Amino acid sequence: MKIETISTNSYADQKPGTSGLRKKVSVFQKPHYLENFVQSIFNIATELNNGVLVLGGDGRYYNQTAIQVILKIAAANNVKHVMVGQDGILSTPAVSCLIRKYQTAGGIILSASHNPGGPTGDFGIKFNIANGGPAPTTFTDAVYEDSKTIKQYTIANAEDIDLSQQHTCHMGKMKISVIDPVADYADLMEELFDFKKIKSLFASGLLTMCFDAMHAVTGPYAKEIFENRLSANVNALINSIPKEDFGGGHPDPNLAHAKELVARLNAGLNAPMFGAASDGDGDRNMIIGQKFFVNPSDSLAIMTANAHLLPGYKQGICGVARSLPTSRAVDKVADALGIECYETPTGWKYFGNLLDDNRITLCGEESFGSGSNHIREKDGIWAVLFWLNLIAVKQHSVEEITRSHWKQYGRHYYTRHDYEAIDSNVADELIQNMRNKAESLAGTNYSDYEIVLCDDFSYTDPVDNSITSQQGIRILFKDESRIVFRLSGTGTEGATLRVYIERYVTNPEQHNLDTQAALAPLIQIADEVAEIKTRCQRETPDVIT
Ligand code: G1P
Ligand code: ZN
Repeated sequence: MKIETISTNSYADQKPGTSGLRKKVSVFQKPHYLENFVQSIFNIATELNNGVLVLGGDGRYYNQTAIQVILKIAAANNVKHVMVGQDGILSTPAVSCLIRKYQTAGGIILSASHNPGGPTGDFGIKFNIANGGPAPTTFTDAVYEDSKTIKQYTIANAEDIDLSQQHTCHMGKMKISVIDPVADYADLMEELFDFKKIKSLFASGLLTMCFDAMHAVTGPYAKEIFENRLSANVNALINSIPKEDFGGGHPDPNLAHAKELVARLNAGLNAPMFGAASDGDGDRNMIIGQKFFVNPSDSLAIMTANAHLLPGYKQGICGVARSLPTSRAVDKVADALGIECYETPTGWKYFGNLLDDNRITLCGEESFGSGSNHIREKDGIWAVLFWLNLIAVKQHSVEEITRSHWKQYGRHYYTRHDYEAIDSNVADELIQNMRNKAESLAGTNYSDYEIVLCDDFSYTDPVDNSITSQQGIRILFKDESRIVFRLSGTGTEGATLRVYIERYVTNPEQHNLDTQAALAPLIQIADEVAEIKTRCQRETPDVIT
């Protein structure tokens, strides 16, 4: 096998965002664009030299093409062994599971998560380190620096590998195993949850479910776990065949995009009792009941309050973490349990150190992500199983579980307003303006709301003391209401301004309000303080979650 050294010109835009390098497919198709970035990963991740690598993606357009290229670059860079998912499929949580189980040097995941796919959609690539979690900022910064000056990459001149069946072969000296993408992950789930109990509830007909895989990566996982191992009801799965363009849909599990699922749960008499969906690469989750939506921040709080009831967490949990914009519902549970609740910047990578240091057992984000110390990524199917197991233990509906939680801990009304594809300069100026006046806002009043603190969130990692600053403007009010402003780090067009608004209400008689109505005065304050409408020239947000 011949190794070729190819001269290349560097690109200036290969800076990884919240979750790896994410660009339009057409950008990745530019000459040497993918090759450069992959070579930069190998240049920085020296542990891959003579190491084992896990490789797979969410099945979107360009997934298999990229895998063939990465295999050849891996062979040229002395990787010892690559474990690649059959058909190029591996969910993000499954990669994390495999890295940990087989103690590999790392993994490459090809995904743009919940962003649309297909030739005109998005593509992405991210690197996970030996603990199974996303590479830290120090790593991604180093890759970016390398990518700005890269002059050559090495690649094996070899035939493409057959990814359509499980087998083992070699490319030069490098071993390649095309593996079952599901089995190891499904086994791990079976260790954490009471499959017997869930299965018997399905068998009795007391529980019925509908899971929407959104034509993305979780289809095969859902089939094995819900159909084969748990014998769920017929029609338990919808959109379960992965497609390169996700069937033309937007594989983001929320009320706007999982319409078919929501319609089934709202169908009245014949509706399934439990509904859930996951995103492009299988790390996000949405949980719903009949005509009832569980806010992801509430879901994290409910999981924290009840984890001890499930086999994998029966010793109780040692601590919990949430990202800055996630509502403070879980803080109330942590207080009651007497455990620490960490507040981190947005993005899963900040949870890794806390999990590795045994400071937390559970963690989550408002953006439909939750997970635990079983791997180092958020995990969609895991969250679904957590809820199924909880329902099996409590024998209550999704709505009953959530309402009784609010009764005990109070309810955090919560919403996120996104202003998409706004001019980057306008967005930067809006944030800068908030930064400038942050200090002076403390002590001021907006209608009935008194601001007690306004700052730009900075995080000091308690494990390695690294500091991550400028992570979002937060305004705290005296009555525990809160507004957070930040710019998205995953968008591929212009800037996206995210505004997160919450209000804490203890009185159960006030737990039935419409969310937007309950938050209306605060939504107004957010606009007034940050001058959103005038600066962005928008009357309303593009997306309300
Ligand atoms: C978004 C979410 C964030 C999540 C990330 C990757 O990032 O807000 O919680 O970790 O996607 O799924 P953002 O676009 O806000 O930077
Ligand atoms: Zn995702």
